[in-house]
Amino acid sequence: MGKIIMCGSFKGGVGKSVTTFNLAYSLAEIGKKVLAVDFDSQANLTTCFGVEDVEALPVTIGHLMMAEIEEEALPETVDYIHSRNGVDFIPSSMVLSAVDSKLRLEMGAEGMLSRILEPLRESYDYILIDTCPSLGALTINALAAADEVIITVNPQLLAMMGLQDFLKTVGKIRSRINNRLSVAGILLTMCDSRTNLCKVISEEVAETFQNQIRIFESRIPTTVKVGESVYYSEPLIEYAPGNGACEAYRMLAKEVACA
Ligand SMILES: Nc1ncnc2c1ncn2[C@@H]1O[C@H](COP(=O)(O)OP(=O)(O)O)[C@@H](O)[C@H]1O
Ligand SMILES: [Mg+2]
Repeated sequence: MGKIIMCGSFKGGVGKSVTTFNLAYSLAEIGKKVLAVDFDSQANLTTCFGVEDVEALPVTIGHLMMAEIEEEALPETVDYIHSRNGVDFIPSSMVLSAVDSKLRLEMGAEGMLSRILEPLRESYDYILIDTCPSLGALTINALAAADEVIITVNPQLLAMMGLQDFLKTVGKIRSRINNRLSVAGILLTMCDSRTNLCKVISEEVAETFQNQIRIFESRIPTTVKVGESVYYSEPLIEYAPGNGACEAYRMLAKEVACA
């Protein structure tokens, strides 16, 4: 049975989508069967997978959520699970933002994504969910569906602010909605180990959470190759296999898989 891992934080621009994309391929490289789910209406992850016109997609995660809310049968998986070079994915589009407002009026709203993903568990080793950076009904759905959450932290963006709030929310979801939920670890992204800021923040995070939360050994360095690889819709494993960030995502996959 596959494990469902969400990539989260209450901030944008911290590398959630890039991490979901590259972790998916790094896990696939070590033989894991992976499904990546884009659960952000901005559809950055879908774009990473090379989909050019997301709004033209007939079935996205937003459509599936709508069907689930209306208690309609879901389409066949071949209609919404796409595949690119060994990794499967479910795309997103703006339809998901309409779902967000609709969910507020629904009973049992937090369990919708879980109902979509549970039947898919048996076909994968890992299901990775990329989320949007806010605590709305969508993020709560993702936390309710997940077994583990990887918290991405970017030292450039006042990392510690928001981290405690996020952890508090994880605790609430665990006690009220999903008692399986745990924190897989904190991942430092866009971290240049030569800079003082990265060192200071890494130490601060380590001191605050030691013995409580795992901090992944793997730290993702800042590199122009990430932006370029996203532009060309290729994971680092294909675009820049020798790059430091690629190595870091490979190491992260091993840490995740050995847990
Ligand atoms: N390791 C990295 N080095 C350089 N740029 C990065 C790195 N990781 C992410 N980025 C860039 O930072 C921006 C935000 O990343 P993204 O994954 O979209 O964040 P989020 O999903 O948290 O909003 C993107 O433009 C992306 O290309
Ligand atoms: Mg994103």
